[in-house]
Amino acid sequence: MADIGYDGKVAIITGSGGGLGFEHAKLLASRGAQIVINDLGGTVSGDGGDATAAETAAKAIEDLGGVAVANHDSVATPEGGEAIVNTAIEAFGRVDILINNAGILRDKAFHNMTPDLVDPVIDVHLRGAFNVTRPAWIKMREQNYGRVVNTASTAGIIGNFGQANYGAAKMGLVGFTRVLAQEGGRNNIKANAIAPIARTRMTEELLGPMGEQLNPEQISPVVAWLAHEDCPVTGEIYSCGGGMVARFFIGLTTGIFDPNLTVEGMRDRFDEIRDEDGYMVPAETADELRKLLAYFKGE
Ligand code: NAI
Repeated sequence: MADIGYDGKVAIITGSGGGLGFEHAKLLASRGAQIVINDLGGTVSGDGGDATAAETAAKAIEDLGGVAVANHDSVATPEGGEAIVNTAIEAFGRVDILINNAGILRDKAFHNMTPDLVDPVIDVHLRGAFNVTRPAWIKMREQNYGRVVNTASTAGIIGNFGQANYGAAKMGLVGFTRVLAQEGGRNNIKANAIAPIARTRMTEELLGPMGEQLNPEQISPVVAWLAHEDCPVTGEIYSCGGGMVARFFIGLTTGIFDPNLTVEGMRDRFDEIRDEDGYMVPAETADELRKLLAYFKGE
């Protein structure tokens, strides 16, 4: 089988001045994609900014023989999102791939989580994805082609102490991905998400010695495949780290059906409701409604 390439494709990667985003950029550029390196260049907590972060990364891609332009707008505002997409249009005339990767952390146990720790995290991760995806989406619809890869996290999918802000934003991206998948279907636009585990400046202290085996470049093939024309899936979530790749999915148990349900019935049949045997993985809301309809019909 032929190698996978991205000739003629234009990719925007937010937050790609370093960390995972820069690895994604290097891989896609080495396979022929033209890249917009977006990065505000702040600290892990989202303070400050440094326009040179994006420029240095774009120059590094060029030095490796790739094609890249830099943009240092923030994803956190609609104007920033527009400017990021305009950078792609002005430099390369289109946008085929959008990797929403920019991120910050402001961890704190929930009882101490004040709005200054919540709002910026939601603004960068969740609103940021809206801000950049919307102008890109309009272009993707016009050209009847697009690939969106969102960066979620187990902090939301599974939950992690001290990350109510980040976990909520990241799980918000799962819902965002699933809705985009449904809306994009008609226009050959696919949207998927990853939940990565890798050693970057964001995680090096958290991961400890295990981090040595969790290289950021091991995440990029997952992202690149989900961003490729031949990617067969949409609306899915992939856990990846250190070479492990697995699929997260949302399952619905068989449950019970009792139109005269009482609170005692809930108590008495709670184990049955929670029983994971025979669960289904709904691909769309109609799957859940069909299950309900089958109960109504006594099937
Ligand atoms: P990183 O800190 O190296 O990369 C994040 C980048 O986003 C930075 O270069 C930063 O300057 C940029 N950024 C922050 N705010 C921005 C804004 N408003 N506009 C534009 N750029 C902005 O950390 P890492 O690990 O590479 O993170 C990449 C993504 O992966 C993030 O969304 C993070 O939440 C996610 N993630 C990472 C995990 C890991 O194990 N490293 C685990 C789960 C999720």
